[in-house]
Amino acid sequence: MAAKAARRPPAKKPVLVLNGPNLNMLGKRQPEIYGRETLPDVEKACRAEATRLGIAVEFAQSNHEGALVDRIQAAREKNAGIVINAGAYTHTSVALLDALNAAELPVVEVHLSNIYKRESFRHHSYISPAAVGVIAGLGSQGYLLALQALARLLAR
Ligand code: DQA
Repeated sequence: MAAKAARRPPAKKPVLVLNGPNLNMLGKRQPEIYGRETLPDVEKACRAEATRLGIAVEFAQSNHEGALVDRIQAAREKNAGIVINAGAYTHTSVALLDALNAAELPVVEVHLSNIYKRESFRHHSYISPAAVGVIAGLGSQGYLLALQALARLLAR
């Protein structure tokens, strides 16, 4: 009799953690607002949290709106969900909203700062309608909370 094929869980797609313009400057950029952690520090913390949660993660950052749209389009096939800090494009980009809607993936929007405590032009997010949730004002912990939320959603 043929040996039973080993049952492996299906390979899980990684969650994409996508950062927009100027987030590559974290640590140097207005540390009184955004803190002293760098983007590689945030990535390291996310990777540790993802390991703890049993999910895979992938990181990308771009200062270019079109490149972010391209990466979100690719995520439709490559990724299980998206954590996005779109930086200033949050407040300007219908293109990012359209891309996130077209991706048909669970999205969590993250902001390091509390955008509602800041200038009024930061109070509106074009991308929030595409998100299952929004986390703002908790610094880099927001990314970890977003991963926790997505891990739960994806386990359903
Ligand atoms: C930000 C808030 C945005 O208003 C700003 O343009 C950023 C960063 C945040 O993480 O707090 O670049 O998304």
